[in-house]
Amino acid sequence: MGLVRMSIQGRPVEAPANCSILQAFLHAGETLIEGVGCMGQGVCGSCRVMVRRSGEQDVKTALACETLVEDGMQVARSCHLLRQRNSV
Ligand code: FES
Repeated sequence: MGLVRMSIQGRPVEAPANCSILQAFLHAGETLIEGVGCMGQGVCGSCRVMVRRSGEQDVKTALACETLVEDGMQVARSCHLLRQRNSV
């Protein structure tokens, strides 16, 4: 299984190919807020993120639970089911 190089919140990360953006968040050490989100059923919208694909200028919204990672993808979270990291 290959790895995809992408960034989450400007932080370079590697994620397994063919995984969702939500799975890439978890792979990168993010944690979910318990009881929020439909966990991949694509109906609640809690996992909505901002995505810029490699070679594109446009930033689009996507559901992290349904969108597969791509090499060079930049993701900024706007979703409500991930715990906010404390800044140091
Ligand atoms: S977790 Fe509900 S739409 Fe993605």
